[in-house]
Amino acid sequence: MHMRQPRPTRRQLLATPLALVPASTASTARASAAGLGALAAQRGVIFGSTLTRGQVEESPEMLRIATDDMAMIVPGFEFKWPALRPSAGAFDFSGADAMLRFAEQRGQAARGHALVWHGALPAWFGDGPADAAGMHALLRRHIGTVAGRYAGRLHSWDVVNEPVEPWDGRPDGLRASPFLRALGPDYIDLSFRLAAAADPAARLTLNEYGLELATAEQEARRTALLALLEGMLRRGVPVHAIGIQAHLAAAASADFDPAVLRRFIRRVAGLGLDCYVTELDVTDRGLPAGIAARDAAVARTYRGFLEAVLAEPAVKLVVLWGISDRYTWMNDSRFARREDGLPVRPHPYDNEFRPKPAWHAIAGALRAAPPR
Ligand code: G3I
Repeated sequence: MHMRQPRPTRRQLLATPLALVPASTASTARASAAGLGALAAQRGVIFGSTLTRGQVEESPEMLRIATDDMAMIVPGFEFKWPALRPSAGAFDFSGADAMLRFAEQRGQAARGHALVWHGALPAWFGDGPADAAGMHALLRRHIGTVAGRYAGRLHSWDVVNEPVEPWDGRPDGLRASPFLRALGPDYIDLSFRLAAAADPAARLTLNEYGLELATAEQEARRTALLALLEGMLRRGVPVHAIGIQAHLAAAASADFDPAVLRRFIRRVAGLGLDCYVTELDVTDRGLPAGIAARDAAVARTYRGFLEAVLAEPAVKLVVLWGISDRYTWMNDSRFARREDGLPVRPHPYDNEFRPKPAWHAIAGALRAAPPR
């Protein structure tokens, strides 16, 4: 029987910088019994969520949820270029250091996201070096410095995020990012080799979105990703897993075919790779405004998706891209926010940190999952 620790007062928490918030201040009863992280661990699955330093320092409730439900945290901002690289010549590790210490203090695993991503680059980066030598040097310095600093402490890295984009019209289906323009497709192999040299312990992941639905567009994405992975493995590139971001929409459930997704996961597993669900969330965009019906549809989407992927032994990890509606990226995204302007309700906890039907749907899918 775990003695419930007295909850810290808001004053105590806010007066304590994140890095100094001792793990003992969090309630431990839920973490060991029915929290989502514990339920997943009983099935050999690592479960967690993205989290930022601001969220935990600002909200005692987020600290409680982080402790109760997460066996892993993925810093949502602190390992990205804008946080790490305030200028071309300087690194700022304060946020990443604090978040990793926060996880380690609680015995939680952590993932690094993301070493190479076109989607979050600081202003000084511009279009990046146009020449191959310049881009090579930039990636070597960034990956060597950042992955080297945290070597041995991260479960895995998203080494390259979102390299595929069939709409860019290339025969190989790759995205025409600044990295590809300067180095060609070799930037991907290079990034993985640099990451492996800097942190031999981390599992190196290729992370991508738009892989979950039985649509022609997402089939093209899956095809391009499989071809990329097969080539990397042929060339002896150290890649260990794919990340399926899984940004889902409850209104798109008609396009979800579990058999298609499971077939794709088995193709990846057949290459000897693991599958990580890296950014799971479910927008209620496009659903009628009624909260009860929206919450029920979101819960059904979580349940159906997780039942499908957790039936595949190659799926070792599930990370939510947000755990409370209070802190969601979606209201800031023209792709994910609701057209009627109502706040979205995509996560397992509501705006007041109360568990929703989605929490119970996730818990039910974790309980029902076959053990790894
Ligand atoms: O700019 C402030 C910075 O000054 C401050 O220190 C920091 C503290 O947290 O916050 C920064 O604000 C914003 C940050 O989110 C908050 O964490 C950034 O301006 C904003 O650009 C950033 O947006 C994030 C976005 O990626 C770009 O990095 C979203 O929260 C995050 O949810 C989103 O996540 C992406 C994945 O990385 C890749 N897959 C798609 C997913 C959704 O777009």
